[in-house]
Amino acid sequence: MTRWPDGGRRLAFGGDYNPEQWDEAVWAEDLRLMQEAGVNLVTVGVFSWALLEPRPGTYEFAWLDRVLDGLAGAGIAVDLATATASPPAWLSRLHPEILPETVDGARMSFGARQAWCPSSSIYRDAATALAEQIAIRYADHPALAMWHVGNEYGCHVARCYCEISAEAFRGWLRRRYRDLDALNDAWGTSFWSQRYHEWDEISPPRRAPTFSNPTQRLDFRRFSSDELLDCYCAERDVLRRHSPDVPITTNFMVSRFDELDYWAWAREVDIVSNDHYLLASDPAPHVELALSADLTRGLAGGAPWLLMEHSPSAVNWQPRNVAKRPGEMRRNSLAHVARGSDGAMFFQWRAAQAGAEKYHSGMVPHAGTDTRVWREVVELGESLGRLSESAGSRVTAEVAMVFDWQARWAVDGDPMPARGLSTAHPTVDASYLGTVRGLYTPLWEAGITVDFVAPDADLSGYRLVLVPMLYLVEDAAIARLERFVEQGGTLLITYFSGIVDANDHIRLGGYPGAFRRLLGVRAEEFFPLRAGETVQLDDGTAGDIWTELLHPDGAEVIASYADGPLPGVPAITRHSFGSGAAWYMATSLDGPGLSLLLRRLVDEAGVSAVVEAPAGVEAVRRRSPDGTTHLFLINHNDADAKVAAKGTDLITGESAEGSVRVPARGVAVVEEVVEEKES
Ligand code: GAL
Repeated sequence: MTRWPDGGRRLAFGGDYNPEQWDEAVWAEDLRLMQEAGVNLVTVGVFSWALLEPRPGTYEFAWLDRVLDGLAGAGIAVDLATATASPPAWLSRLHPEILPETVDGARMSFGARQAWCPSSSIYRDAATALAEQIAIRYADHPALAMWHVGNEYGCHVARCYCEISAEAFRGWLRRRYRDLDALNDAWGTSFWSQRYHEWDEISPPRRAPTFSNPTQRLDFRRFSSDELLDCYCAERDVLRRHSPDVPITTNFMVSRFDELDYWAWAREVDIVSNDHYLLASDPAPHVELALSADLTRGLAGGAPWLLMEHSPSAVNWQPRNVAKRPGEMRRNSLAHVARGSDGAMFFQWRAAQAGAEKYHSGMVPHAGTDTRVWREVVELGESLGRLSESAGSRVTAEVAMVFDWQARWAVDGDPMPARGLSTAHPTVDASYLGTVRGLYTPLWEAGITVDFVAPDADLSGYRLVLVPMLYLVEDAAIARLERFVEQGGTLLITYFSGIVDANDHIRLGGYPGAFRRLLGVRAEEFFPLRAGETVQLDDGTAGDIWTELLHPDGAEVIASYADGPLPGVPAITRHSFGSGAAWYMATSLDGPGLSLLLRRLVDEAGVSAVVEAPAGVEAVRRRSPDGTTHLFLINHNDADAKVAAKGTDLITGESAEGSVRVPARGVAVVEEVVEEKES
C-alpha cells in the first residue's frame, strides 16, 4: 500500500535532521536555511533514544516538542523516527544480554550504534514502549507526515548468534518443519554425522571446524531477516493503532546490503524508502545507482517510492571518501527521481561537528553556506520544486529482471571456511550481484528501462525477462517462467541457475535441473575456469569464470567455445518453447559479449529504448495517470548532448521544439507534449 504524506502533491526534499547535536541557537538558522533551500520534509530523531528516555521509563519530550513546533511553523513536514535504532547505555548496562554476539561467540559492546540482539524481548519491549510514547505524543502534531521505524534494519547487526537467538531460531525451525525428521531431511543431516535427535541440539551456524551445513546457514539467514522484520512490525503496529492514517516506512538499502529479504519487507511498509550511496571504487557508479533505483521501484510494485538518504558529497566510511564533482549530486538525485522516487532526501542536513560521522558531507557543510555544496543544494531544491507535477507518476518497462535474496544467499559460499579452503561451491568467482549487473549494464547503455521482479511474479506484461543466477528456485517460479515463454515471451537464463530447490538440494538428472525442459539443454559437469582464464566463443566474443559440458536437447546452438576446456561445446543456446523462446548463457560473457547477446534478445523481443539518445545520456520516462509524461535526460558526458523531444524543459523553462539540449554533466526534464490522437 502506498500512502503519501501531503497527498503526494510534490517531490520530497530534505534529509536526516539531528538538531539534538546542536545548540538550540542553531535551530532558528536551520529553519531559515531549510526555507531558503526549499526543504519540505526532514527525518527527525533517528538516534535520539538516549535523550528522549534518559532513564528507564522517564521521557523527556520538551526539546522534541520545540523542534517539531518550529518545523511546523516553518511549513516543513516531518518523517518522525521511533528513535529505536540505537538503545541508550542504560539499557545494555541493566540488561547486558541485549548486546549481540558474533559468530565466534564474542559479545559486542555499547559505544557505536545498533548494539541489540534482534531476538531480545527486552529490546523489543523497550523499543515498542518508546515508539508508543512517541506515537501518543505526536500522532496529532501538525508537522507529522510519516513515521520512520528504526533505521536501516540489520545494517550493522543482521544476525546474532547468542543463546537467546539460538532459542528463537529453534522456535522458528519448529514452526517451519514441525518435526525433527523434516528438518533432518531438509538439512541433509545424514552428511558428516549431523543428524539431530533433540531440538535443543540445534544452534545457529556458529564458527565450526570447516564448512558448516549450507541449509542451516540458509535457514539462519531466513530466520534473521524474519526476526528483524518482526521487530519492525511490532513498532509499526503500535504506531498504526495511534495514527491509522499516517504512512509508515523504514529505510532499505536494496542494492548492496544483502541481509534482508526485501520482498517480504516491502509488503509491510506503506511507502518503500531506500538509502543509496555511491562507491568510489565502482568504475560506473551511476549505473549501480540506476540499478538500485529500479530495484527499489520493483519492491514498491511500480508505485512511487522515496530516496530516503544519499549524500550531498563525500561519505565517511569508505577507504577513500571521494567528494562529488560539481553537478554530480543533481544528476544522482534526479536519476533516482527519474526511476520513480517521489523526492530526494539526504543524510544529513548539517554536517556533524563531532562523532564518527563528522567527515560525512551535509547539506549545510562545516564551511557554511558560502560553499558550492550549499549552492548546489539550493539549486536542487528549486529544480525539484519545478518538477512537482511529476509526483505520483510511474515508470513502465518492457523488460523484467528476476531478483531474489534467497537465491543470492544460497549462491554465497560459506563466508568462514577452514584455513586453506575457500568455497564449497564450484568457484568463488560466481557472483550473484555481478551477474545481475552484467545483464543490467548493456540495457542501461541502450536506454532500455528494466523492472525488477520476484521469481514468482506475474510476467505477462513484459516482452523480455532476464534471469541472472537464480541458483535456488522454487517450483512455483519455474511454472511462471515456463508460462511466460509458452505465451510468447523471450527469456534469458544464465549459468548457475535452477541448480537447487528451496532446501539447497541439487535438482538431479543434469544441470540446470529446474530449467532443462524450458531451455532444452542438459549439462553433465561444470568446468569452472581458473582465476583470470578466459575462453573464446566462435562468434568472436569471450567468457570467463564458468563453462559447462552442455548438450542441446531440443535447443539450437547459437555459439560454442572455440578453445578452453570444452572446445566445440555449446555456450549460448536458444530453445523455441510454446510461442516464445528461452535462451541460455552457459558462461560469463565479457562486456562486448553481453552487449551482443542483449542486442539480439532485445531485437527478438521487440523491446524499444525510451528515446534515441547519445551514449552516456540516461533516459527514463515517468507517466502520470492523466497522460502527462516527463522525460528525464541525464548527461554523464563532458559534452552537451541533443536529444529529440517536444515540450518544455522544466529545469530551464525553455521550450523544446523537436529537440532539447542536455548540458554536459547536466540534466533536462522535458514535460512532453502529447500528440493529439485523431478520433
Ligand atoms: C546510512 C545510515 C545513516 C548514516 C549514513 C552515512 O547507512 O542510515 O544514519 O550513517 O549511512 O552514510
